[in-house]
Amino acid sequence: MSKELVVVIDFGGQYNQLVARRVRECNVYCEIYSYKTDLNVIRELHPKGIILTGGPSSCYEEDAATCSPELFSMGVPVLGLCYGAQLMTHVLGGKVERATNREYGRTELTVDPSSPLFADVPETTSCWMSHFDYISRLAPGFTSIAHTDNCPVAAAENAEAGLYGIQFHPEVLHTPEGTKMLRNFVRNICGCSGDWRMDAFVEENIKAIREKVGTGKVLCALAGGVDSSVAAVLLSKAIGEQLTCVFVDHGLLRKDEGDEVEAVFGPKGPYKLHFIRVNAQKRFYDKLAGVSEPEQKRKIIGEEFIRVFEEEAKKIGAVDFLVQGTIYPDVVESGLGGESAVIKSHHNVGGLPDYVDFKEIIEPLRNLFKDEVRKVGLELGIPEYLVFRQPFPGPGLGIRIIGEVTEEKVKMVQDADAIYRQEVDEAIAEFRKTHGGADPDWMPNQYFAALTNMRSVGVMGDERTYDYAVAVRAVKTLDFMTAEAAQIPWDVLQTVMNRIVNEVRGVNRVFYDLTSKPPGTVELE
Ligand code: XMP
Repeated sequence: MSKELVVVIDFGGQYNQLVARRVRECNVYCEIYSYKTDLNVIRELHPKGIILTGGPSSCYEEDAATCSPELFSMGVPVLGLCYGAQLMTHVLGGKVERATNREYGRTELTVDPSSPLFADVPETTSCWMSHFDYISRLAPGFTSIAHTDNCPVAAAENAEAGLYGIQFHPEVLHTPEGTKMLRNFVRNICGCSGDWRMDAFVEENIKAIREKVGTGKVLCALAGGVDSSVAAVLLSKAIGEQLTCVFVDHGLLRKDEGDEVEAVFGPKGPYKLHFIRVNAQKRFYDKLAGVSEPEQKRKIIGEEFIRVFEEEAKKIGAVDFLVQGTIYPDVVESGLGGESAVIKSHHNVGGLPDYVDFKEIIEPLRNLFKDEVRKVGLELGIPEYLVFRQPFPGPGLGIRIIGEVTEEKVKMVQDADAIYRQEVDEAIAEFRKTHGGADPDWMPNQYFAALTNMRSVGVMGDERTYDYAVAVRAVKTLDFMTAEAAQIPWDVLQTVMNRIVNEVRGVNRVFYDLTSKPPGTVELE
């Protein structure tokens, strides 16, 4: 673990995880804390720098998210972004007011290249603005170091005090020099050396796991996804024979996935894991019978998982630790890290029953973003096709079947999903073949079929049908926090539709889900 920490204080803005990821890309470790966190807690973390994120409030309103003025006199450099910059101004005696028009979108920006924040940044560049309020008077000691046509203070500094504010969003890709600005802050102004690297992470974690585990026995919850696979291989490299991986086939996996997981991690695979497959399909279907409320379904699946592991642990004998592949966005989205509302209870964070039979839970990837997990996977020598596999949620097809889950519906969605993924994969491969290996513009980051709970009338041969409708979905996203529908070519969708209605029994209609996130989520439940 890096000794250097930058604290990202979360005021509830939509790009807050992105800020943290960009900082990590500068090889600087950072963690997200809510603005409600006590200042003494922050102080004891001994951060090398603090970043205040954007947020939805207006800082001059009574109930606005705020911070103590002492935050700015701790001798630690502070960078405020958007709301963070306004709040810094407001708290330190400047003035923030509402503009007549919202400034939104890509905007031309002129910067003062003599500011350390803009080292190596061209004097004119562009930035992404999204604000109603603006800084109408600087706080004492501050000077303006950037402007746009509409915004006289697009950035400000009090270099002597180590305080910087940026009105725009350097973390988004629409601010092309944004990462450089963040890098200037964390590396040059805060003086972080940039020791957060995945090769070091692997080495240090293997050591830390060995120290923590000692001669104890470890049980790993292998779900077959990227996160739990990377966690399992990391653990197996650290403690070898002391690790037992239990793979629960909950009957909510993609078509043939159980056998594929076994082929990779089982005794015939390349890794030396002690691998146990539990075929618990019926148990899960029984528990899910009659349940249609999405959060309840997630909870049931999560709890049943734990129960199965508990039972396996008892068979194995005393087990000291349970491993889970939780990653940082799960932690933040479950409302445990920053200021995000609980969007969904991710089963591997929120849904743990309080009577788990293990001494301790180990979550070796808990502090990592997905791209960092993938880098760790490559460092560990896991093949690329596994490392770059599209994400699959812990509750599996349970949250891709709207309403009650039954074995029959699982089979429908598995078959439809296999057809859809096969056709999309072939179209991607074909495009790459004819375009020198390049990805198509419509390249989705996640694509799957789901079963709507809707039945409708159709005609098949001379017969009337009354069957289910499948929704196919494909999204483009950088971080899964926001996403938009990918434009899968029409002819591919036509083939998919034809094959699904002809090959999947019980399905007579196919929808394409166009919804972006927000307001939708990637999964349907
Ligand atoms: P949503 O539906 O929240 O999905 O927009 C964002 C990403 O997270 C995955 N996802 C989950 N992963 N447990 C997981 O491990 C879950 O409960 C869960 N719910 C959603 C989803 O597949 C997408 O990649």
